[in-house]
Amino acid sequence: MIQLVDLKKQYKTIKKDVDAAIKKVIQNTDFIMGEDLRLFEQEFAKFCTTKHAVGVDSGTGALELAFHALGIKAGDEVIVPSFTFYATASAVAATGAKPIFVDVEEDTGNMDHEGLEKAVTPRTKAIVPVHLFGQPVDMSNILSFAKRHNIHLIEDTAQAHGAKVKMENVGWKTAGSMGIMSCFSFYPGKNLGAYGDAGAVCTNSDELANKLKLLRDYGRTAKYEHSILGFNRRMDTLQAAILRVKLKKLAQWNAARRKNADLYDKLLSEIGVKTIKIHAFTEPVRHCYAIRLPNRDELADFLKKNGVSTGVHYPIPLHLQKAFAYLGYKKGDFPAAEKLAEEILSLPIYPELKESEVRKIAGLIKKFLKK
Ligand SMILES: Cc1ncc(COP(=O)(O)O)c(C=O)c1O
Repeated sequence: MIQLVDLKKQYKTIKKDVDAAIKKVIQNTDFIMGEDLRLFEQEFAKFCTTKHAVGVDSGTGALELAFHALGIKAGDEVIVPSFTFYATASAVAATGAKPIFVDVEEDTGNMDHEGLEKAVTPRTKAIVPVHLFGQPVDMSNILSFAKRHNIHLIEDTAQAHGAKVKMENVGWKTAGSMGIMSCFSFYPGKNLGAYGDAGAVCTNSDELANKLKLLRDYGRTAKYEHSILGFNRRMDTLQAAILRVKLKKLAQWNAARRKNADLYDKLLSEIGVKTIKIHAFTEPVRHCYAIRLPNRDELADFLKKNGVSTGVHYPIPLHLQKAFAYLGYKKGDFPAAEKLAEEILSLPIYPELKESEVRKIAGLIKKFLKK
């Protein structure tokens, strides 16, 4: 079976270094806020071209702490896309603030800047573009929107470690280096994945970095001294040690994903399959490789019967999720998000996927379309 994500294959290539890193943490017993966390934060900040990276317990934790650090609370509103993973919006709700959904571009799945003006009110405090599937959003437009309305821009970079975007009059920038803060997930299947939950917030602000460090650690300034209301949302030293090993490989793994994606692009365009559009002003890291077709469930079944597992990111747009029913959205509010949710299908794209496997999958899709 060709898995959608195959972490066992990746582990085999780094086993020696990962095992040694884990062993070292256990021998040192510095499980909480240990040396590897400090070093990972330095190394990851450098990778993201930001001044700081603050390691936290998950991508969800990163988003929640970023909102808390800005003082976002009940009565405030935060603009998020409807077509993303649940946590982008649930983290807003966790602060007591209200998520305000906007539609996405139908061809890329990324936040559509055209509908943003309608979403702003005097209560709007922030906007959270998500670099979906590893392709950065059109940052020039969204940053100027945020500036015009004097609201914070927080990047949800959970799917875009190392992606780049070209900005007007600025040049190429790394995803996660443009907002006031950016939130990363190191969930195991991400381009940079831990062996459990982990996340980070990156920022160029000393003040926000210090606040985030307090917030993740009970608001603690010294042993049993707590200066603000904080949480327990630290990243384990063990995860940081594993991430340090994997970070060294990330650029190479991202390049391998791009190579597989380019081959899919070529083979699938020959048979007329719609794929997610990649803009010339982005260098994506291909976290997911999504295709679109009206009968995607039938194709998913066909591929499964022929030894290929696929995924759907995402089958229900957030404005139609039961958990957000209290916000009062209805079907038809965000047509592009709804259409993508019906048609989208993710194919295997992990770095260790072989060229012959990409060809096999494309061949099966061709066979399915001829049926
Ligand atoms: C776009 C997006 N935001 C947030 C998250 C939440 O991250 P985590 O699962 O690490 O809490 C994820 C991934 O799971 C994600 O894909």
